[in-house]
Order: sequence, then C-alpha cells, then structure tokens
Amino acid sequence: MQFAEMVQERTQKYLQTVSKSERKEIGQFFTPASIADYMSKLAAFKGDYVRVLDPGAGSGILSAALIDNLIGRDVKRIEIDLYENNQSIIPLLESNLQYISEQLQSCGTIFDYHIIDKNFIEENQREWMGWLPSERYDIVVSNPPYKKIGKTAMEASIMSDIVYGQPNLYFLFMAMGAKLLKKNGEFIYIVPRSFSSGLYFSAFRKWFLSEMRIANLHLFVSRGSVGGKHDNVLQETIILKANKTDAQISNIIISESVDEFCAKAINSYKVNYHTCVSNDDNAFLFFPTNEEDAMILGFVNSWNANLPSLGFKMKTGQLVDFRERDWLKKTPGNDTVPLLWAYNFNGQKIRFPVDVPGKPQYLKDEPSTKRLQMNKGNYILLKRFTSKEEKRRLQCVLLFEDDFSEYRSISTENHLNFITKETGKMLPEEMYGLYVVLNSSYLDRYFRILNGSTQVNATEINAIPFPSINAVKKMGMQAMNHSDLGEFLCDSIIEEQFISRQI
Ligand SMILES: C[S@@+](CC[C@H](N)C(=O)[O-])C[C@H]1O[C@@H](n2cnc3c(N)ncnc32)[C@H](O)[C@@H]1O
Repeated sequence: MQFAEMVQERTQKYLQTVSKSERKEIGQFFTPASIADYMSKLAAFKGDYVRVLDPGAGSGILSAALIDNLIGRDVKRIEIDLYENNQSIIPLLESNLQYISEQLQSCGTIFDYHIIDKNFIEENQREWMGWLPSERYDIVVSNPPYKKIGKTAMEASIMSDIVYGQPNLYFLFMAMGAKLLKKNGEFIYIVPRSFSSGLYFSAFRKWFLSEMRIANLHLFVSRGSVGGKHDNVLQETIILKANKTDAQISNIIISESVDEFCAKAINSYKVNYHTCVSNDDNAFLFFPTNEEDAMILGFVNSWNANLPSLGFKMKTGQLVDFRERDWLKKTPGNDTVPLLWAYNFNGQKIRFPVDVPGKPQYLKDEPSTKRLQMNKGNYILLKRFTSKEEKRRLQCVLLFEDDFSEYRSISTENHLNFITKETGKMLPEEMYGLYVVLNSSYLDRYFRILNGSTQVNATEINAIPFPSINAVKKMGMQAMNHSDLGEFLCDSIIEEQFISRQI
C-alpha cells in the first residue's frame, strides 16, 4: 500500500472522533489520496536532496503522496517541514510520519521530518518582512485552511501588504508558501477558485503573479445530477502548479476532470500564458478550456473601455430584507414605494408587482427609509445570484424612469445589482447598447471563464471590458428597433458591429 492510501485510511478513523463543525471552525478539510497523488505528480523535481514544505499539514497526506512519488525517482534525501497548529490532529500526523520514516529507513532513503505545531504565518513573519532569508524549499505542497479572518487578525497584520478588504487564511498561506520557496522552486496547492477574480484578492494576485509563473491549472467540472460526495466543494476548487522563476513561460496547461480522480482528466488544453493571466491592473486569472473559450477571451479583451471609464457604474441594491422587516409592506399605500427583487425580472423588463410568498413588493416611504431608496431613472438591473441549472450567469432587465411614474422613488433589494449613469440621465441608446453587451453570449461566457461561482459581484462587472461609447450607442440604436432582445439578437448585433466589419 502506498503511504497516501495508508494516511487516508487512518484519517477516516480520525474523522469519526471529531465533529464537522469543529473542523469547519479551523478550516480543516482533508485531501483525498487520489487528488494528493495527482498533485504530487505535478512536481518535476530532479536531484538527490529535496526540501519540502507542507503548511497546514493535517494528517500529512500531501507529504505522504509526494514521498510516494519522489522515491520512484533518484532522490536520496528528503527533508520535510510540516506546520500544523491543531493539537487534536498532531498525534495522528506524528504517527503517520513516524511510520513513513521507518519504512524509508529500511529502503535506504535518508528522511528527516519536523512537525512544527505553531501558526505557519506567525512563525514565518520575519521571513515575510525580509528580516531573515526566506528561500528554503524546493517544493511547497498544500491544501491551506479556508477561513475568513478579520482585517486586524494577527495573520492579516503580518501580511498587510497583500491584504485588501476581507482576508482569508488560504491566500495568506499561498503567499507565504511562495515566499519560502527557493528560486526555481515548485508550488502545488489545492485552493478555492475565488482568488482568481475577486477584488479582495487583487493585491495578493498582483504580488503572486509577479513572483510566480503558473504552469498548470486543474478544474473540477460538474457531473450533472449524479453528483459525488465531493462534487460541490470541488467545483469551487482548483489545483494550481506554479514555479518561482522570472523566466517567461509561454503556455499554461488547463485540465478538467469530473471528480476527485483528476488523473482521469476529461480534457486538457494548452493556452497562451497571457490568455490565462491578464496582463493589466486587474491581474485576473481566466480558465479557458478550449479554443472557443480562448477566442472569446481574445475578443472581449480587445475592448478597451469598462463601465466606469464610460461614465457608468454597477452598484448593489441597498435593501437587505431581514434587516428592514418593519418597513416592508405587502400592499401599496400613499406612503409606499416599489421594492424590486430578482423575482420581478420578466424577460427583458420588470413585472411589477408579483405575488411571491415572503417577498413584499413595497417599502414604507418615510425619513428613516430614504437611505434605502433611489431616484426613479433609467437603469439596467442585473441578478447577483443565479442557480447552477440556469443557462445564463448574467441576467439583466431594462428599467425605465416611466415604469413607475406614479411613485416618488424606488428601492432595490440586495440580491440585485444595477447600472447607473454617474452624471445625468442614461440615454435610451446607452441603455439598450449596454443591455446588448450584457445579454450577449459573449459576455456571459467571458464571465464564466473568469468566475466559476454563481455570484455576480458589482466590482467584477465594473472591471471587465466594454466597447467604446460610440459602439455601445450604435448597437443600442439598432436594438431599439426590436421588441425581443434575446441572446441571439444581442449576439448578432455584436457580430455585425465587430466581427463582420473585419471580414
Ligand atoms: C484544509 S486542511 C488540510 C489538511 C491536509 N493538508 C490535507 O490536505 O488533508 C488545513 C489544515 O491547516 C491547519 N491550520 C489552520 N490554520 C493554521 C495555521 N495558522 N498554522 C498551521 N496550520 C493551520 C488546520 O488545522 C488543518 O489541519
């Protein structure tokens, strides 16, 4: 039996002794042996002495799998530092490593391991600050803890230079792991996909992408209705292999599998480095998995504007229903204004009111609810959340000033985003033109390649490319002649504007 499988079996027994909530509290989830094996095969290390770092080691499965794969090569000496600060798992970690050590001794490999039962970030703070030399390891392999922490938490303060907004331990572990690598060292992590596009991760992304070059990305795709036990978690997760080098890497390999048996990749695609890693201030990571994805990225990325540069901004609806229950009304009165929800979306327009249990359609209009109201005007509303089963991630409607002429103002619930013009009133051709772009399959697909989740954040939409204002208006004028603004029509207007002109 391989070491990783042995560790997996022992971990299963450990799992019966601790509750899920206890583990969730410290961001403890264990990597299946098959994934650990796939990750360790990504290490290309050649040499006879290797120094490995395993931060957040848990029961040691990633180290075990790496050793399984290294002993088949010419490695004569393996030294591993394992950081783990959860006292409950340490006896198992110790006993797993002790067992591996005894086995390796008997086959002549020199093996040293050090379990460091301390906080990984705190222990390496001087290395992060540059007060101590940091380049120690040839390989760092990790499944870091997923845990949101406060901005003033000790770990966030130590690494404040890469924290912007809400920090999460997982990306601090990524940055610290990268920092501790030697030049040409290898970085192999399984991590949530969220860092690839979210605003809160932008300072980290910029730092990471300037230090490291990505070589491989592995995605987990849905198996549809069958669904395995790890499916939901895995779909939000990626395996990332990167190298600490300044050398230019021309391609990245992006692979996909349907479940934790990543070795049975269903697809593998070689993509140009900068098709995947954006070369601008956003420092986004895209995950194209075929030629068509790459073409869509190239096409949309050729647009040079974005909503703010065009004078528009996407914002998020202000009303959080459970906080404002006292002000919500089921029926209209002299002192109410319409409250719009995602439930009011109907094709390209708003249907109001709708009868949905628990979704009152009116807000009481009085001084203390002014903060929840917005002026009547021309807006585009966009859903913030869609379900996995829905065909489109970007779902929008047009909202005209005249739609609610009998009311003083309106309110939007927090599951909506809306586009507003920063100065003056949004012109109809601007509205229709922006709608064409947002409702096209091009932008929807672009968004999916960028962001694997079902959530659409206003900050991301404000950062993604849009065509020039002239093109937006021209497309808008064309769209205004049509009554049905479905995806097909929006695509053909975009194609006429941009693609057929080039032929
Ligand atoms: C997601 S689990 C992964 C465990 C193991 N590497 C695996 O792949 O199965 C992350 C581990 O990090 C540990 N951990 C959390 N915060 C830590 C910290 N600040 N320093 C060291 N370890 C930490 C948790 O106790 C947990 O065991």
